[in-house]
Amino acid sequence: MTSSKRQMRLGAFIMATGHHVAAWRHPASQSDAGLNIDHYRELAQTAERGKFDLVFVADSPAGWERAKDPEALRRSSRGAHFEPVTLWAALSQVTSHIGFVATASTTYEDPYLLARKFASLDYISKGRAAWNVVTTGADVSKNFTIPGHPAHADRYERAEEFVDLVKGLWDSYEDDAFIRDKENGIYLDPDKVHQINHRGKFFTVSGPLNVGRPIQGYPVIVQAGASEPGRELAARTTEMIFTANQTLEDAQEFYSDVKGRLARYGRRPEELLISPGIFPVLGGTEKEAQENYDYIQSLIHPSIAWTILQRHYKGVDLSGYSLDDRAPPLPENTELNKSRLKLVTDLVERNNLTLRQFYLAVAGARGHRTVVGTPEQIADAMQEWFDNGAADAFNIMPPILPTGLTDFVDQVVPILRRRGLFRKDYEGTTLRENLGLARPANSFALARATRTAV
Ligand SMILES: Cc1cc2nc3c(=O)[nH]c(=O)nc-3n(C[C@H](O)[C@H](O)[C@H](O)COP(=O)(O)O)c2cc1C
Repeated sequence: MTSSKRQMRLGAFIMATGHHVAAWRHPASQSDAGLNIDHYRELAQTAERGKFDLVFVADSPAGWERAKDPEALRRSSRGAHFEPVTLWAALSQVTSHIGFVATASTTYEDPYLLARKFASLDYISKGRAAWNVVTTGADVSKNFTIPGHPAHADRYERAEEFVDLVKGLWDSYEDDAFIRDKENGIYLDPDKVHQINHRGKFFTVSGPLNVGRPIQGYPVIVQAGASEPGRELAARTTEMIFTANQTLEDAQEFYSDVKGRLARYGRRPEELLISPGIFPVLGGTEKEAQENYDYIQSLIHPSIAWTILQRHYKGVDLSGYSLDDRAPPLPENTELNKSRLKLVTDLVERNNLTLRQFYLAVAGARGHRTVVGTPEQIADAMQEWFDNGAADAFNIMPPILPTGLTDFVDQVVPILRRRGLFRKDYEGTTLRENLGLARPANSFALARATRTAV
């Protein structure tokens, strides 16, 4: 029986060997995970066993490691990994309920091809696809034949047009366009197949798309940028937002700010789910959890530590500093990932960190919330945010994989369930049904219905 109490949504945010930068060195991790399909199959099935709503992979059309130092590169594990849509297409065949969130960039992808890929994934998974819309903070322009990485504002302007265009393409076929009447030889109703004839600032695309309307109408649209234009994009067009917050107050500010923007677009607060990340370091006791954390932190090589720091100090020469010096001020402006820079700046200033404390603070969760403790304490930390206007969902970021996810499913999920905060079984078969999100109407059908009604 479904509980009437408001339910938490859970996503498994999968980073091949685990989220911690040194995870691949841990005895429990799968060191070749990035290209090991059996490993991902196990993770998707574990998350589904725990009745998670979704699995999610981040992505960039480049290796994650942009270390200039050859020593750091030699010790980095994240350069080679699967492309998300093809990965999820395969795993949808060995699961039945869990949703699949694939990250794809509005800066570096093409709208027609992206619409086609995600519509196909939605059919292949029988309605379990979602697109994590990112503008790509990092400059990966050298992998593409373009003059350079567009500025932050330009990337978001393009993203706004991109998302609308993709939704338009998903409406190319109305839901009842296919007649498939063998006897009379009528396959489809041409009045229900549409060219979108889009002409915008960035794109000119006629359509129709060569895939039918996705099973969910549109795959669920997720967004993961928290700057001012990122929040606006989420409020206007997306249904779930992945975010990183350190403190309850910051998370509450973000939650109420983003929810407060929805009315302007004729949307209700529950039409956008807010999902902060959490990096849970588990132990049977508090002491054991801390030891587990200290051990994985001890696996970070100094060259990796400096690479992490340099990533935040873009354009700043750190060669005169030692790790025990107080962290100097971070650069004030960036054209890359604005919200994450603000988050780490606040973290450093609030806690008056040394450079060593700074890299240790972000080596695992990269700015997301870290909770080190017993399963009860992890559940408490989640419930605190869920009950206090800071989260509708959580992106669980296991430090080490596969064990970090298995432990969470076996030890934390039962506690959330006992507290009536999390489902015992899936409510539906599509990702939208499980997330409680409505299936969007086809814009052409809607326009015709409105014309007829007038
Ligand atoms: C949980 C989370 C996951 C993200 N995943 C990605 C990703 O996979 N690829 C990417 O390019 N950016 C990712 N981002 C960053 C942004 O989505 C964003 O496109 C961009 O860097 C600008 O962010 P801003 O609006 O916060 O400045 C992620 C952000 C968060 C909070």
